[in-house]
Amino acid sequence: MSRKGKTLYERLGGYDVIASFVTEYIGRIRADPQFARYGSSRGTDKKKRDLQLNIDYMCKVTGGHNYYMGRDMKTTHAGLGISSVEWKTNMRYMAEALDKFKIPEKEKEEVLALVENMKSEIVEKLLGITVRQGFNTARPFISPRASLERTSFASSSL
Ligand code: HEM
Repeated sequence: MSRKGKTLYERLGGYDVIASFVTEYIGRIRADPQFARYGSSRGTDKKKRDLQLNIDYMCKVTGGHNYYMGRDMKTTHAGLGISSVEWKTNMRYMAEALDKFKIPEKEKEEVLALVENMKSEIVEKLLGITVRQGFNTARPFISPRASLERTSFASSSL
């Protein structure tokens, strides 16, 4: 298959490359005191599970064929009160993690665009004002990729 017809998952280098940069990204978040409150009361096993779900999610939204067993982004982050300032730092860490593993510029931009597209589902506080709290947990999981392509949940291949 030509490079053109390949999924982002394939162009990134598949599971091992994605696991590497996501592990690096999560490592940077966890090492930053700004995010300390999210890690409190979490043991090693829970942290490992969270990391694995992050890896699986990234594989899924880039076109991997894995079955993502976690929750959708809104359900997962609802009530955490994640701010737009934290979001900005989060994007910087993702970019740095991609750079560390020398992801080519095109694929790097695609990953960053995918993640940026999740902002409205994750961030609840803009400039200190709570913009969203709670939601209908019965909503089906719709990946950012599916939303981007404007496909309905029923017609999506996910
Ligand atoms: C400022 C940025 C972010 C913060 C502070 C944050 C924080 C968290 C926290 C605290 C959890 C654990 C929630 C719980 O177990 O109750 C979590 C889980 C998760 N996050 Fe984030 N997150 C951020 C951005 C992202 C982004 C950009 C992605 C996707 C690329 C993501 C994907 C996930 C996934 C897949 C889980 C696990 C879902 C599950 O447990 O079913 N997060 N996040």
